[in-house]
Amino acid sequence: MNTKVKLAGVTLKNPVMTASGTFGSGAEYAEFVDLNKLGAVVTKGVANVPWEGNSTPRIAETYGGMLNAVGLQNPGIDLFVERDIPFLTKYDTKIIVNVCGKTTEDYCEVVMRLAEQPVDMLEINISCPNVKEGGIAFGQNPKAVEEITKEVKKYAKQPVIMKLSPNVTDITEMARAAEAGGADVLSLINTITGMKIDIHRRAFALANKTGGLSGPAIHPVAVRMVYETAHAVKIPIIGMGGICTAEDAIEMILAGASAISVGTANFHNPKVTMEIVEGIQDYMEEYGVRDISELIGGVNG
Ligand SMILES: Cc1cc2nc3c(=O)[nH]c(=O)nc-3n(C[C@H](O)[C@H](O)[C@H](O)COP(=O)(O)O)c2cc1C
Repeated sequence: MNTKVKLAGVTLKNPVMTASGTFGSGAEYAEFVDLNKLGAVVTKGVANVPWEGNSTPRIAETYGGMLNAVGLQNPGIDLFVERDIPFLTKYDTKIIVNVCGKTTEDYCEVVMRLAEQPVDMLEINISCPNVKEGGIAFGQNPKAVEEITKEVKKYAKQPVIMKLSPNVTDITEMARAAEAGGADVLSLINTITGMKIDIHRRAFALANKTGGLSGPAIHPVAVRMVYETAHAVKIPIIGMGGICTAEDAIEMILAGASAISVGTANFHNPKVTMEIVEGIQDYMEEYGVRDISELIGGVNG
């Protein structure tokens, strides 16, 4: 049985990856997860300089998910290169670094710093709803998506994944713009903007007022958007959004994803990625699927 998938020339041993921001740089999970068994580890977003993130409270539970407005707190590229990359290179998995920035120059600086690093792919987050500048400001306008993709591609030595926002009217427009800008792969979805109010205090649950909704509540929206995007572009897609089980992962692959990322589910079950890797193999065995590529976009009708 073959579970290997290829993304822009990079071969993953299986399609299961971690979603940026929910898995640190792997060290926090190494006690629960054999990182060697993952298709890839996607790191927390890293910027050119350290970011403090937003004020607290910045996390709230919701029905079937959570809201977060962490605001891309990160140690900056210097510490990241010194500490996190050497940790990850000890494992037999692919390393995907998630990049954030406030301006095009910020993004390009990080991409340049990573050029000589042992990193397999770059994931460019143009879709964070929780930072005022940068992030989503790029991800909601097709012209800006195309422009920033082109700029990043000028400096990138590794294949570039553009991470798209679901907070748009038509995600296929953004997907086509990223493809036109030269993106090698797309990943979707980032979180969906939401709000929660504490009725007893008559106050917002998050200091930022709004936050990004993630977890099982967003899964059907993510499946729909992956399906639409798969029909709009030729480049491969990494699907994510509320994946908690192997069934959810297979659903995403049938909708058109070549690989999948697991995010919020790691918080309540740190071993979930391992269960998903095994569950996909069990499904393939049960249904006589010899190569996982038979499943990609394989939904009937
Ligand atoms: C606490 C938290 C932090 C996140 N940080 C990042 C980040 O740094 N960069 C990024 O591109 N996405 C970030 N995300 C979005 C996730 O990678 C993912 O796209 C989203 O949560 C949907 O997947 P899920 O429902 O499986 O969590 C974050 C999500 C959460 C919950």
